[in-house]
Amino acid sequence: MISQQLLGWYSVNKRILPWRKTKDPYKIWISEIMLQQTQVATVIPYYQKWMKSFPSIEALAKADYNYVLKHWEGLGYYSRCRNIHATAKSLNGKLPDTFSELIKLPGIGEYTAKTILAIAFNKQEVGVDTNLERVGFRILGLKKKSKFNNNRVKKFLENIQDKSKPGDFNQALMDLGSSLCQAKTVDCKPCPIISDCKATTNEDPLKYPEMKKNKPIPTVNIAVCIIIYNKKLLLMQRPKDKMLGGLWEFPGGKIEKGESSEAAVVREVFEETGLRIKSPKCLGEVKHQYSHFKVKISLFQNNVKAIDALKIKEKYLWTTIEGLDNLALPKANYKMLDIFQKNQ
Ligand code: ADE
Repeated sequence: MISQQLLGWYSVNKRILPWRKTKDPYKIWISEIMLQQTQVATVIPYYQKWMKSFPSIEALAKADYNYVLKHWEGLGYYSRCRNIHATAKSLNGKLPDTFSELIKLPGIGEYTAKTILAIAFNKQEVGVDTNLERVGFRILGLKKKSKFNNNRVKKFLENIQDKSKPGDFNQALMDLGSSLCQAKTVDCKPCPIISDCKATTNEDPLKYPEMKKNKPIPTVNIAVCIIIYNKKLLLMQRPKDKMLGGLWEFPGGKIEKGESSEAAVVREVFEETGLRIKSPKCLGEVKHQYSHFKVKISLFQNNVKAIDALKIKEKYLWTTIEGLDNLALPKANYKMLDIFQKNQ
């Protein structure tokens, strides 16, 4: 039986991970949200710090959002953090244990709902993420990615699932997919289910499933200004529903076609703050990569003497460098701060 071989392998080779030491549905939920689009090694320290500060749904629900967001700083996809906090407030201390209730919660899709049910509640569900999908495609010897084939894989995994250990079954496949059976490298010899794998017997397993070519990543040119008044820096909060939602950043924006970076920063600062800065000092350039695009940031500094004209729609604040410790900023803004501090 495939699942017995898989579970035998897992009992010896499973990764020791902090969220595997618990069955607390709250902790499993948080780990699964953190692990969406994010590597295990990145998540571990975030998970540990989070659980120290927010050991229960009640503790999380009571916490101030800026403090919660500070715990997510650098992890990306910040709507996940907003959804978790809003959900914690709505839950009355207990995560539901049915698919129909879980799927209604913001940030929980089919995969996450089923994975939580399998791991935390021992329900006979299989959460199929990209690792499980790839392993399934290889076992069945399927090449073409299609809804039909994806469903075949799901049904197949549900069929072979060990009904008494759905959580271990799920995580065994995750571990296989992230070790012996990765997208770009395989090590088939020690694989516990090699004799059931069509991709290995047919030809090169890496051809299963066929991979889409990655599109080139565009670069966006941005101009940003650190505005200083009375030795304090101006920060604005990004809209909650946008990328990096709720994080604090320096004013600035896209450089338009044909525009110089200095003209862009003067224009953007005026549009966003009402302040008319003159001849801002150029501090240098910052490069940063997000999942779907890169940014090239021209960084400026301007010390203003008066802020009578200040007019900002979003939330904003003036802070000392020390005050930044309590705020969550996008990573690129820390790169800017480095340059700024070297210039002082
Ligand atoms: N990726 C998503 N969920 C995971 C889990 N429970 N263990 C390891 N990797 C994961």
